[in-house]
Amino acid sequence: MSSGEAQRLAAPERGADLDDLAFIRDRRVGHLATADAGGKPSVVPVVYALVVLDGDPAIAIAIDEKPKGDARALRRVRNILERPEVALVVDDYHEDWRSLAWVLVRGAASLIEPGSPGHAEALTALRLKYPQYGVMRLEASPVILIRNVSTTSWTGSDTGGEKPAERFGREELAALVRGRRSVRAFDTQPVPRPIVEEAIAAAGWAPSPHGRQPWRFVVVESPERRNALADAMAETWRAQLRLDGQGRQIVEARLEKSRDRLQRAPFLIIPCLYLAGLDVYPDPDRQRAEETMAIQSLGAAVQNLLLSLYAAGVDGGWMCAPLFCPDVVQAVLGLDTALKPHALIALGYAASDPVRRPRLPLDELIVDWQ
Ligand SMILES: Cc1cc2nc3c(=O)[nH]c(=O)nc-3n(C[C@H](O)[C@H](O)[C@H](O)COP(=O)(O)O)c2cc1C
Repeated sequence: MSSGEAQRLAAPERGADLDDLAFIRDRRVGHLATADAGGKPSVVPVVYALVVLDGDPAIAIAIDEKPKGDARALRRVRNILERPEVALVVDDYHEDWRSLAWVLVRGAASLIEPGSPGHAEALTALRLKYPQYGVMRLEASPVILIRNVSTTSWTGSDTGGEKPAERFGREELAALVRGRRSVRAFDTQPVPRPIVEEAIAAAGWAPSPHGRQPWRFVVVESPERRNALADAMAETWRAQLRLDGQGRQIVEARLEKSRDRLQRAPFLIIPCLYLAGLDVYPDPDRQRAEETMAIQSLGAAVQNLLLSLYAAGVDGGWMCAPLFCPDVVQAVLGLDTALKPHALIALGYAASDPVRRPRLPLDELIVDWQ
């Protein structure tokens, strides 16, 4: 049907929606449901064409296979003769279910013999739509015409699913991602506990291997615990810095700065790797890969946490110290040995606006695009 014909269609008196008719017009295969006098249903795939007869939409279906030369031997034809009510469903399938769609047509079907009103129009519409019919001798065959059509339809976007580009304010997201920065000096203003809980909940939404969330978070709030943690980690760090050959004064200055950070931040969060729920492999290579996936995922969880804090006006500073002395952290905080401390996030309100580190330009980040 041309667009002109679509416009010529009568207003949807019997519930035939113009958009639904356009959908049907543009698809090539449908499924025709008929039933016999006793109600026994039958469904067959059909090709069809939309025709306009006396200003009303109708659907034409050719009969191009005739067992023993008799169209009436076909079940769909016998059913229609016994019971004219039929349904035709035309649908779109897509792996993105927001793009699913179908239109259901109901109507009264009849068998139209050659020479009867509508037969010639039906054949013309079918031949225009399907060139295959051009070489078939259909003039002497009856066609099925569905009239009094009404339509019902549904699309995946009816569920409220939107296209990705329309989901969120992209500018806001960019501002959030670019605004976050590491803060290493905090003032003493307390951070409301719900902000911390919300940030940890956001961490929980990070992607993870097999969806098993191989990380847990320890929150350290009490000053005594923070001091004990700072002291214990300082011992290890002092020994390590001295091992690196750093002078005593420099070592003590760095330790003091780190201790100050841990003591001033209202909360410390220790993201721990928790491998208990992950797959176990007989070979070390796959086992290592499994653990690497968990560590990658821990990084994603921490980023969610930092962005959530930043959105709430709270800053965080990522410290790697626990990674270098996990057993010390476990011991001083009395943690289960299945929890492997991987980092420490000191969080609070920034004492000053820190200098931002520059970032690589996009063309350095993308090393290949094929
Ligand atoms: C795994 C990891 C460990 C880090 N460890 C420390 C740390 O021990 N001390 C520190 O001051 N910053 C640490 N950072 C923060 C980085 O120095 C910081 O993210 C980087 O310089 C970029 O700056 P920005 O976070 O302000 O954008 C760490 C970051 C990551 C991802």
